[in-house]
Amino acid sequence: MSLNINNISRSFNGKEVVKNVSFEADPGEIVGLLGTSGCGKSTVLRAISGLDTGYRGEVEINGKASRKVEASTGFIFQEPRLMPWLNVMENVTFGLKGKKESKDEIGRKYLRDVGLAGSEHLYPKELSGGMAQRVAIARALITSPEVLLLDEPFSALDAFTKMQLQDLLLEIWEEYRTTIVLVTHDIEEATYLCDKIVILKDRPGRVGQEIILDEPRPRRRGSNALANYKTDILNSLDLSRV
Ligand SMILES: Nc1ncnc2c1ncn2[C@@H]1O[C@H](COP(=O)(O)OP(=O)(O)O)[C@@H](O)[C@H]1O
Ligand SMILES: [Mg+2]
Repeated sequence: MSLNINNISRSFNGKEVVKNVSFEADPGEIVGLLGTSGCGKSTVLRAISGLDTGYRGEVEINGKASRKVEASTGFIFQEPRLMPWLNVMENVTFGLKGKKESKDEIGRKYLRDVGLAGSEHLYPKELSGGMAQRVAIARALITSPEVLLLDEPFSALDAFTKMQLQDLLLEIWEEYRTTIVLVTHDIEEATYLCDKIVILKDRPGRVGQEIILDEPRPRRRGSNALANYKTDILNSLDLSRV
C-alpha cells in the first residue's frame, strides 16, 4: 500500500508541535522518520495510524483519505504492551477470530517467523526484553498488515538484541513486503534499514530533508556508504542549533 502524508500539522493547547509535514511511502518501501526527541515523530505517526484525528492535513492510504485506524495497519511500539495474564500464544492470537486450534496454528507460524517456536506457553514476565518485543512483532504480523507503523521499536533493547531484531524486521519485510514507517532517533538504525529517511527538525517539527538511500541489501553495518549517509544526516540535523 502507498501512503501519502499531506501537510500534517498538529497543535496541543494552542501550541503547534508539528507543522506542514508531507512525505510519501511507496508500496513496500521502508521509510524512516528521524529526528531528535520531542520534534514530533510520534505525533506524526499517530496521525498516520488514525489513533489521533485532531490534526490538520490529510493522510492518504492507496490514494484514499483516511482518518481512522485501518484494519490493514499494524503497530509496534517501544514497549511490547503484552497482556501479563495471557501466555505468548494467547497474546499473539488475541485479535484473531475462530476456533482455538486454528488460531493456534496461525499463531505457531508467526511465532516461528519471529524465532519463538517453543515459547508458546511462557508468560510475559518470563520473557527477556527481546523476546517480548518478538511477541509484539508476531502479534502485529498476524493480522497480515499491509502497512506497519513502528515507533522506536528497538530503542529499549541492548545493542546486540537491537541488531538481531533489526535483521528480523528485514527478514519479515523480505517475506511480506509491507510498507513500513519507522520512527527512530537512531541514525545507524535508520541508515541500515530504510529506503528513505525523512528528517524532522525544529520546533514545531517540520521536514528538514529527505534522504534516499540507494543502497542494495544486505547492507553492511559500519560500511563507508552508510557512514557517509550518517554524516549527511548529522549535517542536516545541525544539532548545534537544537
Ligand atoms: N497529547 C499531547 N498533549 C500535549 N502535548 C503533546 C501531546 N503529545 C505530544 N505533545 C508534545 O508534542 C511535542 C512532540 O512530541 P512527540 O511527537 O512525542 O515527539 P517525539 O516522538 O519526536 O519525541 C512534544 O513537545 C510533546 O510534549
Ligand atoms: Mg516519540
